[in-house]
Formats: sequence, structure tokens, C-alpha cells
Amino acid sequence: MYSLKCIDCGKESGEESYNCECGGLLEVRFDLNQVEIDFKLNGKDLWVWKYRSLLPVKSEPVTLKEGGTPLYRLERLEKELGVHRIYVKHEGLNPSGSFKDRGMTVGVTKALEFKRKAVACASTGNTSASMAMYAARAGLKAYVLLPAGKVALGKVAQALMHGAEVIGIRGNFDDALRIIREVSDRLKIYLLNSVNPFRLEGQKTIAYEIVDEIGVPDRVVLPVGNAGNISAIYKGFKEFLELQLIDKIPKMTGIQASRAAPIYRAFLEKKEEVTPVADPETIATAIRIGNPVNAKKALRAIYDSKGLAETVSDSEIISAQKLLAKNGIGVEPASAASVAGLIKLSKLGMIEKDETVVCIATGNLLKDPETAIKVCGEPKIVEASVESVMKMM
Ligand code: F0G
Repeated sequence: MYSLKCIDCGKESGEESYNCECGGLLEVRFDLNQVEIDFKLNGKDLWVWKYRSLLPVKSEPVTLKEGGTPLYRLERLEKELGVHRIYVKHEGLNPSGSFKDRGMTVGVTKALEFKRKAVACASTGNTSASMAMYAARAGLKAYVLLPAGKVALGKVAQALMHGAEVIGIRGNFDDALRIIREVSDRLKIYLLNSVNPFRLEGQKTIAYEIVDEIGVPDRVVLPVGNAGNISAIYKGFKEFLELQLIDKIPKMTGIQASRAAPIYRAFLEKKEEVTPVADPETIATAIRIGNPVNAKKALRAIYDSKGLAETVSDSEIISAQKLLAKNGIGVEPASAASVAGLIKLSKLGMIEKDETVVCIATGNLLKDPETAIKVCGEPKIVEASVESVMKMM
């Protein structure tokens, strides 16, 4: 019903490969004529495994009830920007607090199918937290490689508490990914970075859920780091289009931090591949990535959907994080890049007035308490008396 095919040469690879012999990225291809769709697009009972007929697993999934995240409208921002509809899909409300859970439920299930004893990843934090959680659920050993000192506290705490072996390296995420790819190959450990095509299959359900709840939006805006999620969501829409469940694809709009923006640069130059950024830097540590492994897939998603790429500064990211928080939506900095990007594009006149836009908030506020306190300030402390408390109020 499905196979792994190279996005460049089209050649089929074995299920346990991460790359084609030619070096190209792999993707899961379903024979969509053979798939028996057994779900109804009725906006009900949303979660990843509602769409099991379009997910490449052969066994009972390892699940923590991921997906089914809420879609909130931002009415005040709609008025301010003059955009018809703005929604935020809060992926920070997944079990481990990020969208990565959608991928890990599939990826860890595949690790068991392939009879692996251990899983591994390099991470800016969320992938490691999610992988540690699902590996714990499945009884697998988990190994995590992090850029030391550059991962938000909540994420490290999760990886440690769920029992992963956590190793910090004196290097950035791109170094960590290069190293863990070779180590897991040598030690026959199952790699769960987004170069793993099965993980992206779980993440494509973000597109399915949006369609299920509100139909096809005109645009989807999301932060881009290693560029897996934008590729996955685009794939989800494309499959629904091929199945004739929808009749158009939203403009995929990727937002990067201005000092970690290889995809944006490639987009400006109309290129199909990126030139890596050597020293990526941003307050949004989740997307502090200079050499995105899924760049080719992501750029195709942007070009094919007539989408856009844009950058935002750290201060634009923090303003958007605060704006979301004032609307009752608590997200980590990287997530706010989506809304920061929408605001910037709208002010540049790049968003049509009649558009329905969905921004993906990728991770929870609690992931990065240190940045939150840094930008909001510490709580005020007073004497324990009614008078001194009232004076402060
Ligand atoms: N937002 C958050 C909160 C993330 O953690 C990530 C990626 C992204 C956006 C970007 O997604 O890589 O698919 O383009 N975090 C990875 C990690 C790299 O290791 O947790 P992407």
C-alpha cells in the first residue's frame, strides 16, 4: 500500500533507510487508489490515529493520545491587520507540549516494528522531549544529543525525567545531527530526526485536522527550523487533494529567525537548495538551525503552493509571543515566529484581505520558562501584610 521513494530520482528504498542511494531525501508514497478511507471529515474526534488509513503502520501504535489540538480564532488581530480570518492551531497542547508528538507516535511504532531496542535524535529540545516520552512508553532506550547550553530548560527536564541518555555537545544543532546520524548508523540505533520519513507522516495530520475542522485555509504560516514540519503539512494537503477530499492547497508560508534563515535566503534567490548558515543565532532556540536537512522538500512545498518565506527578528518574535499570551495562548518563542511573520507580511501588503490564515503554534510556553521570565521580569516581592500587597495592586 505504501513504499519509500526518493524525491529526486524516484527510486524505491527499503523501509529502514533514511536516504536514497543517490543521497536524496525519502518520502512515504501511498498508492492512493488502493487506500480505503475510513474517516469522515466532520470535525469530530480529532487525533492523529483518526487518519490511520493514511498512516504507514502495520501494528498497534504506541500512542499518548496526540493530536486533536485546538484551533483558536484571533478576532482582535483580524481587525487590527484587516485579514478575514486568523486562526492559531495550538500544537503546544500535545502530550509533551509540541507538534513532535504527532511524528513520534508513528516513529516509535516503526522502531518497534523494525525490532529496534534503542532510538536516538539530535535536537534543539522538543524532539528530544517527545522522543524520550514515547520511547519510555514503548520501553525503548533513548539517546539524545543536544547543543550544550542552547536548549530551553523545560525540554531538557522532560528528556531527563523520561529516562533518556542526554548528551550535550560543544557545538550547534547541525553538528549534533551530523554526529548522531553517523553514530546511530554504526550502532544500529533507530534515528528519529525528521530525516526519518515515517515521523513526517505523523506530522502531516496537522493538515488533515485543519481541513477536518474548517476546510482548506488560504494560507498556513509556521516557523521553520530543520524544515520537516512545513514539508509534512504540505504533503498532508497534497494527499487530500489527490484523494479529491479538497480542491486546493494553502500557500505554505515558512518563517525563520533573521539570523538563522537559510531557507529564506534560498527562497529570495529562487534556489532549490540552501547554502548553510554557519553560526545560526536566535532567542527562539528551537529554530536555531543553519543547515536544515529537509530544505529541498520545504522549498518545493513553498514554490508548489505559491507560498512565501520571511524572516522575523528576536524582538518581533517576543512581541508576538506576548500578543498570543494576551489572547490566552501560551507558546514558546519559536512558535510565535508564525504570528510575527504573519504580522510582518500583512504590513508589507503580502496578505490578501479576504484570506483565511492558520498559524501553527508549535510548542508550549512552559517549554522555555527562562526566556519568559527574562522578557516579563521577576514577580515583585513585598512584606506579608494586607497593606503592602494592596499598595502593589
Ligand atoms: N517550532 C518548534 C517549537 C520546534 O521545536 C521546531 C523544531 C520547529 C518549530 C521547527 O520545525 O524543524 O520541522 O522546521 N525543533 C526541532 C527539535 C529541530 O529538535 O526539537 P522543523
